[in-house]
Amino acid sequence: MTDLNEIKNKIENLRDEINRHNHLYHVLDSPEISDAEYDELMHQLKQLEEKYPRFLAKDSPTQRVGATPVEAFGIVEHPQPLLSLGNAFSEEELIAWYNRISKLTGSSDFRFVCEHKIDGLAVALTYVNGNLTVGATRGDGFRGENITQNLRTIRSIPLSVSKKAPLRFEVRGEVFLPKAGFDSLNKERAKEGLPLFANPRNAAAGSVRQLDPRITATRPLDIYIYMMGYAEGEETPLSHWEAMEYIKSLGFKVNPNNKRLDSIEKVKEYYSTWLKERERLPYEADGIVVKIDKIGIQEQLGNIGHEPRWAVAYKFPAVQATTVLKEIEISVGRTGTMNPYAILEPVSVGGVTIKHAALHNEDDIRRKDIREGDTVIIQRAGDVIPQIIGPVISKRPKLTSEFDLIKKLNGKCPNCGADIIKPEGEVMYYCPNAACPAQRQQRIEHFASRGAMDIRGIGEKMSIILLNEGLVSDFADLYYLRGKRNEIISIEGMADKSVDNMLAAIEKSKKRPLARVIYALGIRHVGGETAELLAKNFRSFERLRDAGKEELMSIDTIGPRIADSIIAFFENQENRKIIDKQKEAEVIPQPIEAGGENLQLAGSEFVITGRLSSLSRQEAEAKIRILGGSAKSDVTRRTNYLVVGAEPGTKLNRARELGIEQINEDELIRLLG
Ligand code: IVH
Repeated sequence: MTDLNEIKNKIENLRDEINRHNHLYHVLDSPEISDAEYDELMHQLKQLEEKYPRFLAKDSPTQRVGATPVEAFGIVEHPQPLLSLGNAFSEEELIAWYNRISKLTGSSDFRFVCEHKIDGLAVALTYVNGNLTVGATRGDGFRGENITQNLRTIRSIPLSVSKKAPLRFEVRGEVFLPKAGFDSLNKERAKEGLPLFANPRNAAAGSVRQLDPRITATRPLDIYIYMMGYAEGEETPLSHWEAMEYIKSLGFKVNPNNKRLDSIEKVKEYYSTWLKERERLPYEADGIVVKIDKIGIQEQLGNIGHEPRWAVAYKFPAVQATTVLKEIEISVGRTGTMNPYAILEPVSVGGVTIKHAALHNEDDIRRKDIREGDTVIIQRAGDVIPQIIGPVISKRPKLTSEFDLIKKLNGKCPNCGADIIKPEGEVMYYCPNAACPAQRQQRIEHFASRGAMDIRGIGEKMSIILLNEGLVSDFADLYYLRGKRNEIISIEGMADKSVDNMLAAIEKSKKRPLARVIYALGIRHVGGETAELLAKNFRSFERLRDAGKEELMSIDTIGPRIADSIIAFFENQENRKIIDKQKEAEVIPQPIEAGGENLQLAGSEFVITGRLSSLSRQEAEAKIRILGGSAKSDVTRRTNYLVVGAEPGTKLNRARELGIEQINEDELIRLLG
């Protein structure tokens, strides 16, 4: 008996919890948990209700779609309820769905339409006599909010359609904010100190459910129509695919990635293709929707509760999750930057266990109001380091405090104890001590890296060994290792051959191009592009070393921040000693050859996005530059080629917008000869 009571309690608690999340998601557009976690709660409740049907209640969240609409907008009764979709979280679940419908129809020969499940907001658009009369949210599936005025601001929603259209009809679709629009919206909000949207879906929902349509109008919203609702006064097509073609012919926007497929095997292929490619999409998709094409079969299968049996959402693995931020720690970067990062309660996101996340700087942490002890929403995209989207304020423990980097570190570098500084106008704190051990190791590693001096054999591990053994104390000491060959070989685990290879690579690096040598120094704010500019303009190491602020700033794109940093670098006594030592070892940087204009890539500007497989991005950029081209980090109208690697970022969208030519890695390699 008590058991049953316990179960009843559990069910009720789950319902309360889910109702609360529904309200947060649908009404306040500010969820506290990830979609995957919400699905999990729903799943638990559904299972309990199936097992104990006596506790099933009409008002259970499993029996409803969405949330009660907000009165302020005016309520729209949907002539036909807007349904939700059942989920499949694995191939087995997809096959289970397929077997179920095969059994029910007595056939396993279906045609499917596969579409992306776009993460936005479902709307129903009603047209009467060719004109848009009502646009509504899904609400609870039966009654939605009247957001016609807001939807009218979305350019891809036709306000009127051709006279051939049915007298009265409804189409349904997903309003969404493309990723690029989402990024720029959040950037603007950050500037204005407003809370950021957790994801494009919340941003779209928040934008459409504005009481003032003028605000909606400023948001770059878009729509894809994904089904025909009812239609009066006209015969409508007998298959979903044809219905979508018809809808397109009336002037609606339909996703060009939709596909009609004739076997479940092809459905699986469609899924795996887009699982790999989802990062490339200009919008956020959390899975695919698989629909039975023939309307007759759809009708035969009907609905169960608020879900059609004839369609299923086959979800991609989650990329967001919530977890506890245990502590904010600080690591010291190569140029002495204090880099905060989060230590998380380990959590699995899309099959990968996440323990750490990047936090950019103190301002960013404060702006997002992230505190130690908070439950946070984290997101993983492709291979990049997971990001913290923001805290779940309602789960904040008592007695937390705003993050304070100086307090955390007692004002001292955690590696060498020097007093840390924050130059005016900068967001980062720095350790000013060039001899700081953390910086030494990373400076050596950077110096030897491929885009810099390209010394094979010296990476993180070797630089630590050399420092610990007292064989080097800075990067210039690498050029004196030749005389210490025996000492190196006597270190445990060192092989003669690899030591000789390393020493040969060190010798070879003495003739690296000037730009690479400048880059290798690791001057704060001087990346590959700036190093290239400096090399072109000064043509000698000595001239750069002696340059004044004005002279540096006379170069296009070099502002006071970079100029100050270069001057501070060369004024530092420790740095001067290292550079002199390097010069004595006969490191002779090669200036850019005159006549570079005639090189094969002269005048071509490249930008790289995504991961390359046969060479690193730095290597590729270095090769482009050697051949007279330029390699930049942002796509602009001047860009000639965007090199698209695996899992490209938003640069691809920008290039598409500007109509810039895109090439893949193979094509780049061909250009590089
Ligand atoms: S069809 C009866 N197609 O997913 C089928 N829905 O969980 C109803 N969605 O409310 C939906 N992309 O907001 C369909 N290509 C697509 C979709 C899609 C996104 C959303 C829609 C719906 C929710 C169901």
